[in-house]
Amino acid sequence: MSGRLAGKKALVTGGARGIGGAIATAFAREGADVAVLDLKIEAAEARTAELAPFGVKTFAVAADVSDEAQVEAAVRKVEGALGRIDILVNNAGIDTTSVVAEMGTAMWDQMMAVNLRSVFLCTRAVLKPMIARKFGRIINIASQLGHKGAPEMAHYAAAKAGVIGFTRSLAYEVARDGITVNAICPGPIETELFKALPEEWKKRKLGELPIGRAGHVDEIAPTAVLLASEEGAYYIGATMNPNGGDVML
Ligand SMILES: NC(=O)c1ccc[n+]([C@@H]2O[C@H](COP(=O)([O-])OP(=O)(O)OC[C@H]3O[C@@H](n4cnc5c(N)ncnc54)[C@H](O)[C@@H]3O)[C@@H](O)[C@H]2O)c1
Repeated sequence: MSGRLAGKKALVTGGARGIGGAIATAFAREGADVAVLDLKIEAAEARTAELAPFGVKTFAVAADVSDEAQVEAAVRKVEGALGRIDILVNNAGIDTTSVVAEMGTAMWDQMMAVNLRSVFLCTRAVLKPMIARKFGRIINIASQLGHKGAPEMAHYAAAKAGVIGFTRSLAYEVARDGITVNAICPGPIETELFKALPEEWKKRKLGELPIGRAGHVDEIAPTAVLLASEEGAYYIGATMNPNGGDVML
């Protein structure tokens, strides 16, 4: 198998569709064996079926990334199927909207669980074997809203800012163990998550963008390939910003 990720074993959470789906496909194209984790096994399997032409080993697993026991069980299954995990992409996430004055505690808690707690749970589940092998790549899908914030998205922006802080802190801890930890902060990308947002919100957001359009998932996946590859070895605690110019960092 040739490619920039040949011989590597990757786990992509929320990999059935959207940005995670594109990353799973890009990794397989570059020669990595790929495990796709998602809420529904059928959705994860549909994605791994699409990876068949690349001739890599694939594995589909169902879990809710906010549930500690499910995450631990899923990671052990992936290790059993692929042998080990070299690359973890913490991509699974949700989006909802509410002004803070009207936001229910359940909405806040769900956001923290799915978009932030999950990153801790999935990372911890893969970390010790990576440290023992002195190699790992952890790529966290945050958002430009983690830098910038947005009305009706205080919970989402807070969770994504949390992901950025987690990324930087863990990067300090494990850089000398051969593990890189980085975040990607996409701008608005044409996925089911983005399409489901209120029309007014999307119109306002796209109007703010220098590029004047939403991005495509294939405009995010190459950044994940770079961070996962040997060429990405010197990125430590970075936030990569393919965002249409929304935040110029
Ligand atoms: N689309 C955007 O505009 C955009 C912008 C910036 C960041 N992001 C982030 O990118 C990531 C992917 O988003 P997307 O736009 O591809 O969304 P999407 O809804 O198209 O895909 C998300 C995937 O995650 C899965 N998922 C959701 N909750 C889960 C859970 N609890 N356990 C396991 N899997 C779960 C879904 O089933 C789905 O397959 C998210 O973290 C999102 O916050 C998206």
